[in-house]
Amino acid sequence: MASVTLKNIRKIYPNTEKRKKSKDASERPANLQITDEGVVAVQEFNLEIADREFVVLVGPSGCGKSTTLRMVAGLEEISAGELYIGDRLVNDVAPKNRDIAMVFQSYALYPHMTVYENMAFSLKMQKRPKNEIDRKVREAAEILGITDYLRRKPKALSGGQRQRVAIGRAIVRDPQVLLMDEPLSNLDAKMRNQMRAELIKLRSRINTTFLYVTHDQTEAMTLGDRIVVMRDGFIQQIGTPQEVFRHPKNLFVAGFIGVPQMNFFENAELKIINGSYCVQVLGRTVTLSREQQDALHQMKQPETQIVLGIRPEHLRLTQDGIAAQIEVSERMGSEMHLHMTAGDSRVTAVIPTTGMETEILGGGKTVCIDLDPALCHLFYRESGENILQ
Ligand SMILES: Nc1ncnc2c1ncn2[C@@H]1O[C@H](COP(=O)(O)OP(=O)(O)O)[C@@H](O)[C@H]1O
Ligand SMILES: [Mg+2]
Repeated sequence: MASVTLKNIRKIYPNTEKRKKSKDASERPANLQITDEGVVAVQEFNLEIADREFVVLVGPSGCGKSTTLRMVAGLEEISAGELYIGDRLVNDVAPKNRDIAMVFQSYALYPHMTVYENMAFSLKMQKRPKNEIDRKVREAAEILGITDYLRRKPKALSGGQRQRVAIGRAIVRDPQVLLMDEPLSNLDAKMRNQMRAELIKLRSRINTTFLYVTHDQTEAMTLGDRIVVMRDGFIQQIGTPQEVFRHPKNLFVAGFIGVPQMNFFENAELKIINGSYCVQVLGRTVTLSREQQDALHQMKQPETQIVLGIRPEHLRLTQDGIAAQIEVSERMGSEMHLHMTAGDSRVTAVIPTTGMETEILGGGKTVCIDLDPALCHLFYRESGENILQ
């Protein structure tokens, strides 16, 4: 276990370098900065990971997550900046001397070896005593619930079991830092859920610092002590899952975190009426909460054009409010997802339906929705930044 510090880390892939073949066509340097030196895959990356913290890097494909992780692992050269593991500057330390272990999306097990041999391999290479190897392998197998499969070959295992072996192989080495790059992406939805829970358990049983990469916001939200949201090579926001969910710094983070996605009203206005800040949206004027008022007054915010964001679960149906036409309504057990249009905006609402007549919420029906101002997020239309951050 150790802290990990990334100071102003930057990664440039030289233009001349042969591009890594990518199966995923979307993994192109779409909006990455390109300089004379090459493609800037990661820049201005500053992060301090505490000892034993679980930090998740999350963002869409191609935003620089794997590149960052691979720089920490030592598999990718760092173009600029400083990387510390504990107090040690490790920019130029070989991967095997960094005391880290990495788990990949493709389990990368040795097919001709048994589970036991796969897990024992790195310790054998280090010429550790046999009884120590045996103890560590059995301990890891116990933690991961794969003791019964130790004699099997990988091909006789399910995807979830194989990934457990890959994790086992990493943890037998007691690494200071455990790096994981989309370890659950090859699993089906049910197994992914189960493995997510297993990772939470694993985390409480081993004393290691975790740096975990995923494009899946649910994984990020459930696993991370803190999450780092990335886009186009830049960090957008760092915070606990709650912080990022409740106070997204900009439109990108607001739209990326949360399912179903936050609703955005593109044509809203921030107004000052009789000294009070109000939001005008779709012909309706809503006075903001005390807290929002105070913050806006303090920063002397002038009237401005905004994008108003509100999460689907924060919309309420009311007698009078913004008229919305239901296009599709989905029953999801104890709640309904209503997909609606209101003026020129598409709006999704999640409505609890326990003990409620749901016939009135069918497609084609018109309802009224209400905005609780305290739950509204205000973004500058120009920059996309959250006004109240
Ligand atoms: N070896 C490489 N050479 C050139 N460009 C690369 C290389 N590896 C990755 N890239 C580019 O760098 C960007 C970030 O890639 P990556 O870190 O793999 O993103 P992510 O893991 O977030 O999907 C992508 O645009 C990708 O195409
Ligand atoms: Mg990746």
